[in-house]
Order: sequence, then structure tokens, then C-alpha cells
Amino acid sequence: MQNKLFISISKNILILIVIFITFSCKTHPNTDNIYNITKSVETDSAMVVTAHPLATEIGLEVLRAGGNAIDAGIAVQFALAVCYPGAGNIGGGGFLLYREASGNTAALDYREKAPSSATETMYLDEQGNPVENLSISGPLAAGVPGTVDGMIQAFEKYSRLRDWNRLLQPAINLAAKGFLITKNEAEHLNDNQEKFKKFNRTTTAFHKDMWKVGDLLVQKDLAETLTRIAKNGRAGFYEGTTAQLILDEMKGQNGIINLKDLKDYRAVWRKPVVYTYRGNEIISMPPPSSGGIALGQLLKIIEPYDMKALGFQSAAAVHLITEAERRVYADRAHYLGDPDFINVPQETLLDSTYLTRRMADFNPRQASKSQNIRYGTTESEETTHYSIVDSYGNALSVTTTLNGSYGSHTVVRGAGFILNNEMDDFSIKPGTPNLYGLVGAEANKIEPGKRMLSSMTPTIISQNGKLKMVVGTPGGSTIITSVFQIIINVLDFEMDINKAVQSPRFHHQWLPDVIYCETDAIQTKQRKILESIGHTFKNREPIGRVEGILIDKNNTIHGAADHRGDDDAKGF
Ligand code: DON
Repeated sequence: MQNKLFISISKNILILIVIFITFSCKTHPNTDNIYNITKSVETDSAMVVTAHPLATEIGLEVLRAGGNAIDAGIAVQFALAVCYPGAGNIGGGGFLLYREASGNTAALDYREKAPSSATETMYLDEQGNPVENLSISGPLAAGVPGTVDGMIQAFEKYSRLRDWNRLLQPAINLAAKGFLITKNEAEHLNDNQEKFKKFNRTTTAFHKDMWKVGDLLVQKDLAETLTRIAKNGRAGFYEGTTAQLILDEMKGQNGIINLKDLKDYRAVWRKPVVYTYRGNEIISMPPPSSGGIALGQLLKIIEPYDMKALGFQSAAAVHLITEAERRVYADRAHYLGDPDFINVPQETLLDSTYLTRRMADFNPRQASKSQNIRYGTTESEETTHYSIVDSYGNALSVTTTLNGSYGSHTVVRGAGFILNNEMDDFSIKPGTPNLYGLVGAEANKIEPGKRMLSSMTPTIISQNGKLKMVVGTPGGSTIITSVFQIIINVLDFEMDINKAVQSPRFHHQWLPDVIYCETDAIQTKQRKILESIGHTFKNREPIGRVEGILIDKNNTIHGAADHRGDDDAKGF
């Protein structure tokens, strides 16, 4: 009897729950109801992993139409500029790493540049102190955008479809017709309303009292800008109407980018930085990113250790990794900058003798203090990432950014796109931390036409001439250590790519002297051991949003999209 009563009450409760869910779905649909998001997928021909399901779908359509990874990547870049406005962009820059099926590799630097009238002290007051927010918000925070030239150069050199309009049209449609925003996007837009109001002279597409999941975001001005780029290529952005709108925005709000800066901007093909780790070939981004070199230093420092035996996030493994990160980030702050302006001692920094010397004072039983660690002596950090593998065996790894979430918050009036705030990635004053707490000095000081140092680390791994992994992430200064952790999760801790991506992460960057942790990273018992030898912990919000692809021995392609966002992996 009691049982029957219990069953009938339970049934009623169940019905109520179903009614509630159905009702609440209609009024407040969640992200999953709008888009079919896949976090982990296996395919045998091609894969696209991006920060937004619409961009993933657009990339896949291009691949299905016979395009290669570059074609898909260009379509994804323009799609993200519309459906992921916090980081996807045409007003920013990025790094593209490509590995053809033949094994040939290429790195494209479409990083923003300092305007020609930029000066070393432009963000300081008369007393020489940094003026709050000057390098972070408004047009003065913007470097000369590189994305459009980057996409054009990638298209000219590698496109298989040879149909530029075809690659932009899906983004133009999205911008003109609008798309439904996810819960995450609604929250981010709401969090940024004040700044949109403060740093724009008129109402933009992003202004609204309260965004909700499922609202339609239409970007008419952006659709027109993208149409000019589709029609006129470079001239559709760096000259003519778009250029004039950028210049008007500069004039209206004390910006300094001029027409010559726009006309002169060119993305640059660079030689990827390549090294081995446990028999794998790691291909990554050279300066002006610090990513490839710093990642290499970290991997080379831990290579002599049996990481599997130490154990995933064991006190011993975390201690070793932290001590390596402390030294590598100290080197980053001193040595790294734009190779067109300074001499980067790349070979030395990756040399095993140098790295052994760098770790000579490593004490397995005691944490060192960052204040006592300097750079080594050599004698002689909202962004987004996408990873693509096409059915021809080519691989693409692209990290692209406006720097902070929604960049400078300035939308070019009439052109509908957001300007980056990448100038903050320069060292605006020696020792003054940037948005990501990174400090720098001489090598990364502001100079006209110079590219600001980056942490973006698009990476591709091959083994015995065969493609094995494609990986990358946003996250400012944490990008390098996130990519590093994914690589060792797979190569040392033998995780599948999904587990490697979804596992909790931690990060140390020399200064401040603290191990940043996702709340579920490093178990309490291990943290206690580490505290007892001098380490300090600080829990923080999620670290990075990794898009990973792994090709296994049977040639099955595994895609993994980070659970930390709306990221979506699909293939065929
Ligand atoms: O280039 C860099 O290192 C930074 N501008 C990247 C910024 C970033 O990843 C923000 N994302 N969360």
C-alpha cells in the first residue's frame, strides 16, 4: 500500500517535472535546444572544431563542397566574426598554422601592428604612470587589424575552391539575417553593456537592455562590410568605404590609426618553430608569438622525466611543471618580441644545454620564489581557436583574437565590426602587468609598426611523417600552459583527446608567484603537499577553451570541443 502510494506520488512528481521542463523550454530555451552541440565525435574523413556550432557547420559545408582546410578555415574565420563577436573578428588578428598532407608546413602571422604614430609612452601620464584602461578600451587601444589580409594571403596561396565569394557568403547571410544567440553569448553581451555604451558614439547591434538566450542578433553594417570584402578583397577593408569608416572612428574618439597604416598592413609568412618531444614532431607558432618557443621550452624541460610514473596532477608532477613554467615565463618577459624589431635567441632558448642550466637550481622538495628567478643568461599572453582536418589529409590550426572579450568595445560606426585592444599586449611600461598579469620589458616595448608579443599557440603534431594532433586555445597567458597540458595528457598520461581536453587545468606564469587552478584541478591532498613546500594556490574561472583533433593509428579522426563553452566538434 505504502509502496503504491509512493509510486503514484512519484508519477505525479514526474509529470509535473516534465510539464515544468516543457514549459520552461518554450519560454527560455537553453543552448542545447537552439543548436545541436557535439563535444566529442569520431569520423573517418574530415573534422571541424570551433567555438560556435554555426561556424562549425559552415566549415563543414565548405569541406563537403570539396574545399580544403584553408577554404574551411577562411569561411570559419568570417563566420566567427559574426556569430562569436567577443573574439571572432575582422577587426583583430591571429596566427594560422598549416600542415599539408605532404608534410609541408607554413605559419601565417596576421597579428595586428602598432600604428605608425604609436610611441613608447603613449599609455602613460605626465608622471610616467600607466593611465587606467587607456590600452584596453576605445580606438586608441587598437592595433592595425590583420585578419582580412591574413585570410586573403591564405586564400591566394592555398585555396582549393578558388572561390572567395563562396567563403564569405555564409558569414554575410548570418550577419544580414541574424542568428539566435546562446545563453553564454547573452550573458557575455549583458556583462559588457556598460562598456559598449561608454566606447561608442551611437547605438550598435550589441546594445540591448537585457539579452536572452534565443534572441536574434542582426548585424546589418557588418553584412555590408563583409560584402565589400567579398567584392573587392583587400581594398574592401584597407581602402575605400571601410577604411574611411575606420578613420572616422579614429577621429571621433582620439584613435591614431591612419590611412597609410591600413594600406601598408601586410600579413607575413613565417617559418614554423619545430622540435621533437618523445619522438613526436611538434610544429608551432614562431615569434611574434611566444607560444611555440615557450611550449617547446616546457616540453624539453620535462622530457627527461617519466611523467606517467609521476602521475597526472600529482604533487611531484605539478611541482616540476610549475618550476618549469616559472622559468619559461621569466624568459618570455625578457627575450621575446617581434622578430622584425628585435633579435630573438630562438635556438638558444630551445637548446637542451641552456634548459638544463635553467633548471640547475630546481629542488624537488622546495618551491622556488619567483622574485629570485630571473631570465636565463644566453651567452652569445577573448580569443578563439579552431582546428580543422580535411579529407585530403591537410591540417589547420588557427588562433585569432581581438585580445580582451569584445576587444576595445568600439564598434566601427557604419562598418559594424569591433576593433581589437591588442596594444595592451605590448609592455606599456617595464614591469607593469597587462590584462593577463604578464610583465615585459625592452623586447616588447611599443614601437611604430611593431607587432605586440602574443601567447597564442596554434600547434600541429606529427609522428613518423603522419599527422597526429591539431590543438590550440584562447586564454591569454594561459594559452601556452593549456596547450602544454593537452599534449602531455595525450602523450604522457595516455588520455584520449576528449579526456585530455575536458580534464581540469592549472597555470603558473612566473609573476604573480601563484599556481592558478580550476576548482577541480589538483586534489586537496596534493595541494596540501605542494603548500607545505612553498607553493601558493588561487582558484580561478575556467582556463582556456581547447579545440583538439587526434588521428589514431587506425586513421580514425577524433574531435574534442571544450565543455567550457559552446564549442562544437563535427565531421564526416
Ligand atoms: O595574443 C595574445 O596572447 C592575447 N591577445 C590573447 C588573448 C586571449 O587569449 C583572450 N582569451 N581569453
